[in-house]
Parts: sequence; structure tokens; C-alpha cells
Amino acid sequence: MPLVRWPKEGKEVEVPTGTDLRVAAKLAHAQQGDSCGGKCACSTCHVYVLSGAELLSEPDEDEEDTLDKGFDVRATSRLGCQTKVESDGVVELEISRESRESFFNEHPDEAPKDWRPKR
Ligand code: FES
Repeated sequence: MPLVRWPKEGKEVEVPTGTDLRVAAKLAHAQQGDSCGGKCACSTCHVYVLSGAELLSEPDEDEEDTLDKGFDVRATSRLGCQTKVESDGVVELEISRESRESFFNEHPDEAPKDWRPKR
């Protein structure tokens, strides 16, 4: 089975082929936001692919349009909810700042002590 890792978080999870990166993050308890619930409407599931991009589905126009609304978008940026692991191997991800902030807003009990939600 494919392995998805978040090296900075020290987390990883094996997932069946076809699983999207939003679901993988939930299974691994990675701190990745998903404000719209995976409907490609918010960009809070924004991640950077560190390695294994060739194992992932290609971005479609909807993903690219939504990603355009994100912050600090890079060549390696993907939306977790729109990106599926299509082949066996290892994918390594970094959670974007906007995604982590969204996660803490959604789960304040898991935020660092000095975290202050945006108003
Ligand atoms: S969860 Fe909103 S775009 Fe992915």
C-alpha cells in the first residue's frame, strides 16, 4: 500500500490506492485543515509535496482555480482533498501555514498554548 508521510510532524500512514491526501491526514492525525469538508471550495487543505508527486493524481482545473486563492502557493502545492494517491510508493508532504492555522481554528483544543485564533 502507498505510504503518506509528514516528516516535520513525524507522522505517516499507509492508505489504499485511491485515497486522497485529506483522508490520509485524518487517518494519521496530521494537523491539516479542511474547512469546506473536501468540496474544493476553501484551499485550507493546502499542502506542499516534498516527494512522490509522480504517484499522485494530476490537478484538474477546479483544483487549480481554488489553489489560486491560497497563500504562499508554490510549484509543489496541492489541495489535499483533490489529490489522490494513485500508485504504490512513498509520498512526503508539508502542511502549509494556512492549512495548519485552519486546523487550529477548527480544533482549538489541539493548538499550541500560545495559539490565538484569527478574528
Ligand atoms: S478542504 Fe476545502 S478545498 Fe480542500
